[in-house]
Amino acid sequence: MESIFSGKKIILGVTGGIAAYKSCLLARELIKLGAEVRVIMTPSALEFIAPLTFSTLTGHEVIVNIFPESQKNGVSLKTWHIEYALWADLMIIAPLTVNTLAKIVHGFADNALTTVVAALRCPLVAVPAADVDMYSNKVTQENLKKLKDIAFVVEAEEGFLASGLSGRGRMAEPGKIVDAAHMVLSGFIRKDLEGLSLLVTAGPTYEDIDPVRFIGNRSSGKMGFQIAKAASLRGAKVKLVAGPTSEDAYPGIERISVRSAKEMKKAVDENMELSDVLIMAAAVADYRPLKKAQNKIKKEENLKSIDLTKTDDILAALKKGDKKVVGFALETDNEFKNAKDKLARKNLDMIVLNSLNDKMAGFEFDTNKVTIITREGKVKEYPLMSKFLTANYILSEISGLL
Ligand code: CTP
Repeated sequence: MESIFSGKKIILGVTGGIAAYKSCLLARELIKLGAEVRVIMTPSALEFIAPLTFSTLTGHEVIVNIFPESQKNGVSLKTWHIEYALWADLMIIAPLTVNTLAKIVHGFADNALTTVVAALRCPLVAVPAADVDMYSNKVTQENLKKLKDIAFVVEAEEGFLASGLSGRGRMAEPGKIVDAAHMVLSGFIRKDLEGLSLLVTAGPTYEDIDPVRFIGNRSSGKMGFQIAKAASLRGAKVKLVAGPTSEDAYPGIERISVRSAKEMKKAVDENMELSDVLIMAAAVADYRPLKKAQNKIKKEENLKSIDLTKTDDILAALKKGDKKVVGFALETDNEFKNAKDKLARKNLDMIVLNSLNDKMAGFEFDTNKVTIITREGKVKEYPLMSKFLTANYILSEISGLL
């Protein structure tokens, strides 16, 4: 599948913060994904990193001066800022210092970077970074609020800072910035889930037979993890109840690891009250061994069968209240009818149908092909796409229900 970045024109704005070193990796990553990248630096950014680094990585002259000395990059001297602004499909500013942040939200255009921002027509991804007190400062926070009207903001993360202090202020890692850019280039340009708490389940459950063996299923957890990641990028507070899977949770997501259906039910029930939406992407086992053997079952025991009993249906037993609840249905036959029946039987607001008959969709793949059915009977069929994009469409449908 072709990368969304392929052939996209991206301006990377770099301002004067120590996190500027991470922006080299960001430029490299965007180019690797097929984008053409041109860099504009503020004069203070030059104190942290040499323009040569970026011009070598991108193959383009780096713009620093508002009045370039010579005609470079094929743009005319007089209106280069307009040409740049019109050229771009996307602009990313990383890192964005509190100084440039303040300038942008107040309409200043006093250097090459802020001038291009003022002339921009394409979406802007802004990635602020500062030391902990500069970041939490009331004025910065007010400016960040204003920035959200004009940009997709990838907020700073908590952690160890260059000053030796720790707290919120670290620039997001390049991978996360690329994810945000991916989302914005795909048309998801607003952080529309801010203020919402989402509870997402993902992965299989394992039902133990003895200390060594279990009954499981082939769920990789990828779909649920991508939903959690996309929701977090779109501003939601996300708790992810994950069955056994090798997937890593995204920074900022609270992961609750569980093993069995019983543990998953407990985690869902305990966290439901503080959540606005539950998305049950997990492939919960329907049966478990009636008894778990204390010791490993030996071959000599001549085991012929295992007595099974049904697990509790987490969705069906849920105290839903006014929360929105989304289920998944993975089917092999009578797909549409089965999914609609499940939606009604489990009292869901929405169900996401996967068919195992679709190629490249379902377990283990990074792509999926889903049909979304709402309680009101709205049906939307989506084409095959990455699980990350599928997650974003699912979230947009959910956001339409709220
Ligand atoms: N689910 C659940 N608790 C279970 C089994 C499933 O909450 N014990 C949830 C799943 O997370 C999913 C939805 O119910 O969101 C549908 O799951 P699925 O396995 O397709 O449905 P089942 O009710 O188990 O029906 P069947 O296996 O017979 O198709």
